[in-house]
Amino acid sequence: MNWIANENRYEKMTYNRCGHSGLLLPAISLGLWHNFGGVDSFENGRAMLRKAFDLGITHFDLANNYGPPPGSAEEMFGEMLKKDFASYRDEMIISSKAGYRMWDGPYGEWGSKKNLIASLNQSLKRMNLDYVDIFYSHRPDPDTPIEETIGALDLIVRQGKALYVGISSYNAEQTEAAVKVAKTLGTPLVIHQPNYSMFNRWIEDGLQDVLVENGMGSIVFCPLEQGLLTNKYLNGIPEGSRASKAGSFLSKEQVTEEAVQKVKKLNEIAKERGQSITQLALSWVLREGRVTSALIGASRASQIEENAAALQNLTFTKKELDRIEAILAGKW
Ligand SMILES: NC(=O)c1ccc[n+]([C@@H]2O[C@H](COP(=O)([O-])OP(=O)(O)OC[C@H]3O[C@@H](n4cnc5c(N)ncnc54)[C@H](OP(=O)(O)O)[C@@H]3O)[C@@H](O)[C@H]2O)c1
Repeated sequence: MNWIANENRYEKMTYNRCGHSGLLLPAISLGLWHNFGGVDSFENGRAMLRKAFDLGITHFDLANNYGPPPGSAEEMFGEMLKKDFASYRDEMIISSKAGYRMWDGPYGEWGSKKNLIASLNQSLKRMNLDYVDIFYSHRPDPDTPIEETIGALDLIVRQGKALYVGISSYNAEQTEAAVKVAKTLGTPLVIHQPNYSMFNRWIEDGLQDVLVENGMGSIVFCPLEQGLLTNKYLNGIPEGSRASKAGSFLSKEQVTEEAVQKVKKLNEIAKERGQSITQLALSWVLREGRVTSALIGASRASQIEENAAALQNLTFTKKELDRIEAILAGKW
């Protein structure tokens, strides 16, 4: 029998407008960078997708290279779409990206027209989709003219292979240059995907202003700093956690005593607010409505449930914000 989604799935989620576009994104979105690869459990991934969708999380973020091995997350997601979500496709916003190394030779990465077009064609095949909802240039390319990269995104929209396009990890200056080209072509860049968390605040230094000025939305990745901003590492590095895995993007060295002390202090504020530290970290990136969506990862369905409940308390008092600033600055 086909899986049937929870009929109350739209009751609790908040949907935010992405900049000045018609696109609405859930305040919490789910990324498939980790735990959806060919090496991972299909059934665990499937349970996470089902849980997310049941909670009103309509947006799923992928990239050509997610796995491992690269490409396998899109294949696994395509399989799950076919098995569970075929009748829900129009309720979903699916994104992919190109820019990081995906195949051998000079055309397998960066921001050339060749890479972007060929990579998206591969992604569509892997997911068995006619189009993605959002397609990104995954990183700025210092050697390809910005006119070519943004021109490729414009072509992709005109071909109907993506409905919306955006950029990821471009700094303020690079974003301004990209927006300028997009404006002349008539295809808006509706979204930016930068890294942002309590521990990584670079976007506050110029990029956020550029996004607001240009009517662009933002979906922020690693809002939990890959798990550091959870209660996971308070007593060492547990087996099975991201930091415990060889070759992980979160190294053991990143779990510093200083970070753990800050999380412990932040936990006190979280408790007073009736939240977990994870929920506090997500509420904080969404404060003041400057961020359209917080793009989380997860290794099990229960984490997604806990994280989505962050939306029940998004308001901060000035005193709370000041205390958080002091803790992040190491003053307590
Ligand atoms: N554009 C880019 O260049 C770029 C780069 C990186 C990521 N992204 C996107 O952003 C998404 C999210 O990245 P991320 O996975 O690093 O995000 P994250 O939300 O900062 O970290 C997710 C990890 O935190 C832990 N976690 C989450 N909820 C938890 C909870 N309630 N309790 C305890 N631990 C919890 C889990 O770690 P354990 O596995 O240890 O349980 C989980 O895998 C990616 O999937 C991808 O779509 C984009």
